Amino acid sequence: MLVLIGPSGAGKSTLAARHFLPSQVLSSDALRAMVADDPNDQAATEAAFELLHAALGLRLAGNRMTVVDATNVDGWARERLLAATRRYGRRAVALILALPVEVCLERNARRDDRRLPAATIRRQHRAMLRSLDALPAEGFSRTVVLRTPRDVEELRIEAG
Ligand code: CTP
Ligand code: MG
Repeated sequence: MLVLIGPSGAGKSTLAARHFLPSQVLSSDALRAMVADDPNDQAATEAAFELLHAALGLRLAGNRMTVVDATNVDGWARERLLAATRRYGRRAVALILALPVEVCLERNARRDDRRLPAATIRRQHRAMLRSLDALPAEGFSRTVVLRTPRDVEELRIEAG
């Protein structure tokens, strides 16, 4: 399991689309759209995560590489994901998009699909920074931190 971590606008979905098959990516926004026709419908969050965890469990049971594309900036969200990998004896890797908040805000402002209030992105970014300190003790077998758009550009992912 690869857990993407980063505020909205950090480029999680862009990275996932570049490196993985669509079927390997479980996206909270896509699942909100699946249940409520709208990736922004916050009322659909609980249902979306129920689906995400159901699909994750089924994929991990089948030993299928799975990417979790959600902000994952809160420790409790990551703990729930890690519990699934423990249940199935799979490895979990954390990939943090720790880009400057200005980059996330600027991309958010230029988006034509979905846009969040700047205050929300700042809050998610602060939670991401706290996550950097918390992650080493959480049980991921590897943690990769990308701090600049160039780090993201140069990322190479190999199976295994
Ligand atoms: N973007 C960009 N350059 C990159 C990566 C992303 O210009 N190297 C743009 C995307 O085209 C998109 C916006 O930044 O318009 C946000 O990228 P996205 O991958 O959608 O970010 P997410 O982290 O997935 O945001 P969210 O949590 O809102 O889904
Ligand atoms: Mg996204």
